[in-house]
Amino acid sequence: MSKHVYSEPDAEAVGGMDVALPSEGPPLAEETASARARPIPRVSIQAFCENAAMAEIVQVAAEDRRLAKVHVSVHMGGIEAAVAHFEQNPTPNLIIIESCLPREQVLMQLDSLAERCDPGTKVIVVGHVNDVVLYRDLLKRGVSEYLVEPIQPLQLMEAISNLYNNPETEPVGHVYAFIGAKGGVGSSTVCHNAGWALSELFKANVVIADLDLAFGTTGLDFNQDPVQGIADALSSPDRLDEVLLDRLLTKCSEHLSIFAAPVVLDREYDLTVEGCDQVIDVVRQNVPYMLVDLPHTWTAWCKSILLQADEVIITAAPDLANLRNAKSIVDLLKQTRRNDNKPRLVMNSVNMPKRPEISVKEFESALELKAISIIEFDSETFGQAANNGQMIEELNPKAKSAPAFRDIALAMTHRRESMPARKASPLAPLLEKLKIKL
Ligand SMILES: Nc1ncnc2c1ncn2[C@@H]1O[C@H](COP(=O)(O)OP(=O)(O)O)[C@@H](O)[C@H]1O
Ligand SMILES: [Mg+2]
Repeated sequence: MSKHVYSEPDAEAVGGMDVALPSEGPPLAEETASARARPIPRVSIQAFCENAAMAEIVQVAAEDRRLAKVHVSVHMGGIEAAVAHFEQNPTPNLIIIESCLPREQVLMQLDSLAERCDPGTKVIVVGHVNDVVLYRDLLKRGVSEYLVEPIQPLQLMEAISNLYNNPETEPVGHVYAFIGAKGGVGSSTVCHNAGWALSELFKANVVIADLDLAFGTTGLDFNQDPVQGIADALSSPDRLDEVLLDRLLTKCSEHLSIFAAPVVLDREYDLTVEGCDQVIDVVRQNVPYMLVDLPHTWTAWCKSILLQADEVIITAAPDLANLRNAKSIVDLLKQTRRNDNKPRLVMNSVNMPKRPEISVKEFESALELKAISIIEFDSETFGQAANNGQMIEELNPKAKSAPAFRDIALAMTHRRESMPARKASPLAPLLEKLKIKL
């Protein structure tokens, strides 16, 4: 067993961002539980449970997208079964032990388990008593983490993720997938403007990946000459590393780069799930925020990106086909992403003159989702921005829709503009007043 220094993940470490947070405030606690549990690399895990409830929790975690690459097996019989099992078998990367035994017995049995563990194997113990002495003794023995029941699958995933994603040394970026409920509803526009706003607000590196390889508009929208970019990465994902990534990205501003689509039709683009997965992995290892601009298609890779993303942002216009399609996407995500936040809904091109529309309220109640932003139809501003290759806020900071993209950037990253400073003490308002007087 290896020694692991336990540390409580703090707000700053969440998501492994390598940037100081702006004054917009900390992540919203209630919404970041799922953000703290990060995708886990290809490791093997064996759990030895005493109760069926714990086995169920491990099973739920094992089926989660974050553990998609992990090999998990669940056994019953607790620590005793583990000791017997590893007499015959090599130990995996991580052993999860549930034990209801008293302190002395747990420690004794763990000692005999340790004798059978390969170096490098980590252990998480799940117990029933909130016992600090036991906790310290476990850590002394090299146990990575002690969790007290009852636990939720997300807590377990977070504990596993903390073992493999050290935020100080390995920033793991967040992936945001943008999809339109229909083609042409402004999903790319929302993605590009939100990405730009994010890079301006947080002064953190943002990559926008255009997966509409044949017709994508990312290059046009940011006024960049077409480059191969993402097509090169996807055609040989094995070769992609930090250095190549740097060459393939097109820098639009200090903190914003695009992975532009080639937009030529002399070839077909048959992407694979694995290729997309590999490219996204390399980007997320190097950049804190990756926004994936998905085309309105339904392929294996498109579906896989949606199911694997940290957050999904659905853009919809207020008509019936949009409502039906948005509902299909929301339902699919609900079924397959049981431990995740709900997708985010952006209502776009609302109040188009003379068009009969479904009201935003009806849309929200049918989807059981509150829109994070409602953007009005404004052909003049959006048309001009598109033609100039500018973002809305660059073109006209006073445009009615300009603040919407900042709101989307804040909402999707779980931040709120008016939040008080992080970990503010209850005395903060008083101290603030005193400061002003001084
Ligand atoms: N709120 C809006 N008002 C007017 N035009 C818009 C609005 N949002 C987007 N557009 C325009 O709609 C067109 C399609 O947008 P795009 O982002 O390419 O859609 P999608 O990616 O969903 O296919 C673009 O020309 C864009 O400028
Ligand atoms: Mg698009």
